[in-house]
Amino acid sequence: MSGARRQSQPGSFLTVGVVSHVLHISDCHLVAAGTDLIGVDTQASLEAVLEQALTEQNPDAVIASGDLAHDPLPQVYRRFVETIRRFTAAPLLCLPGNHDVLGAMQNAQMPLAPLTVGAWHLVPLDSHEDDAPRALITADDKAAIAAHLAAASTEHCLVATHHPPVAVNCPWLDKDRIQKPEELLEWLSERSAQGGTARLRGVVFGHTHQAVDDFCGDVPVFGSPSTCFQFAPNSTSFTIDDQSPGYRWLELSEDGGVVSRVRRVDSFPIQVQLK
Ligand SMILES: [Fe+2]
Repeated sequence: MSGARRQSQPGSFLTVGVVSHVLHISDCHLVAAGTDLIGVDTQASLEAVLEQALTEQNPDAVIASGDLAHDPLPQVYRRFVETIRRFTAAPLLCLPGNHDVLGAMQNAQMPLAPLTVGAWHLVPLDSHEDDAPRALITADDKAAIAAHLAAASTEHCLVATHHPPVAVNCPWLDKDRIQKPEELLEWLSERSAQGGTARLRGVVFGHTHQAVDDFCGDVPVFGSPSTCFQFAPNSTSFTIDDQSPGYRWLELSEDGGVVSRVRRVDSFPIQVQLK
């Protein structure tokens, strides 16, 4: 954890407490060595993100919320972890996205297990199906996160998943979001209340390649930009935006508050080459 600080939250008094800093990256889309993705060197843009982020703050943990590879090969996943490790030794939680192949991630021994950081449990929810764009949360996925929540001994819980639990006003993306998300989050809250001690305080996700700050019911939800190219907000079909690669910082306080901010790497302009 990164020490005590004073923090303000809407509707609450100023509190003093220990804050854990979590770096949230997503949708890195790493490809086989020597290749690019629609003209973008996704390995270089990931490195540019990490270089800038690590000049700002040493993270207490890193969440990578899926689509970590576009060529889902064990050697690409190993390169992903090696890249993170060149910049930070912080605990890492990886999730599979729709472009990932879970078996290849496991083959590469990607860190897929929950993390505890300060007063928080960072819990993965697998929403992916290999090589299919839609969100799919199976009975096994629900059983896995229920077990994680039951085992939590912290006060607070942040769920990390790949697909958005909210619509982002992009129909071509929204069709694949998590279905009946309010029911799901209510079920997660009930599981944490019945099992362990951690209360659900927020959800982070990827997939949308754009910054999202919203609520699902009364749960704050945060979508991180991609570390490579972005999708245009409010677009009605597949549209690449000209915004720079990005990432999100989450400040998790010991009283359960979440403060976050999205950052961009303007030193790495994106120029895609669509065929
Ligand atoms: Fe993606």
